[in-house]
Amino acid sequence: MSTAPDRTAFENFYAGQPPWDIGKPQPPFVVVADQVVSPVLDPGCGTGENALFFGARGHQVTGIDFVDDAILRARRKAAERGLSVRFLVKDALTLTPYPSPSGRGVRGEGDWDERFASVIDSGLFHVYSDDDRRRYVQGLRHVVEPGGRLFLMCFSDGEPGTQGPRRVSWPELYDAVADGWEVKSVHSVRFEVNPEVTDFSFSKGGPKAWFAVIKQNE
Ligand SMILES: C[S@@+](CC[C@H](N)C(=O)[O-])C[C@H]1O[C@@H](n2cnc3c(N)ncnc32)[C@H](O)[C@@H]1O
Repeated sequence: MSTAPDRTAFENFYAGQPPWDIGKPQPPFVVVADQVVSPVLDPGCGTGENALFFGARGHQVTGIDFVDDAILRARRKAAERGLSVRFLVKDALTLTPYPSPSGRGVRGEGDWDERFASVIDSGLFHVYSDDDRRRYVQGLRHVVEPGGRLFLMCFSDGEPGTQGPRRVSWPELYDAVADGWEVKSVHSVRFEVNPEVTDFSFSKGGPKAWFAVIKQNE
């Protein structure tokens, strides 16, 4: 994948049943829940299950996604569950001050006056091209407090085939955060996918993935 799938590609996923939309948080985030502190940012939050999980634990959580329908569904779930998680339509490549290196966004939009102690990335980093990965991580450096942590789950190069997102190798992961971050741990995990979605074929037990805990240098 030389370029990231665009907004239209994701809108088309949400017009049907996205394979990643499993109606509950991805289990590795539940495992590290005690390490997550507020305020929490969930970039590429989709319909919000991970953000809502941390909201239900009493955290101050903001979920952002660039697909309106995903954010509408997330807001609806928050209302139904009586949770005050904030969901915003926002491009995760516009976190750096305007003008962003990507030239994306509008004046003011990129200079986000918000800071977070934890970021939970469930399947966003791995959609990006090399250039967009750099912009995204640079944006995270802008919005993550010194000493804050990034909890990142992405497809690994252990997952065979090419269906779905880019596979990320261990060196690529380290390289992406080489400037200003320290990798505290990387574990091999599996993504859960919606069993009702049958047009993707992944490894038995779920796509092979990395779960990394990465600390922003102080
Ligand atoms: C693989 S899905 C994961 C969704 C959610 N994190 C989950 O685990 O269910 C990736 C999400 O990132 C969103 N996304 C992709 N590029 C984005 C961008 N530049 N800004 C904001 N959201 C983006 C997509 O709309 C989609 O909801």
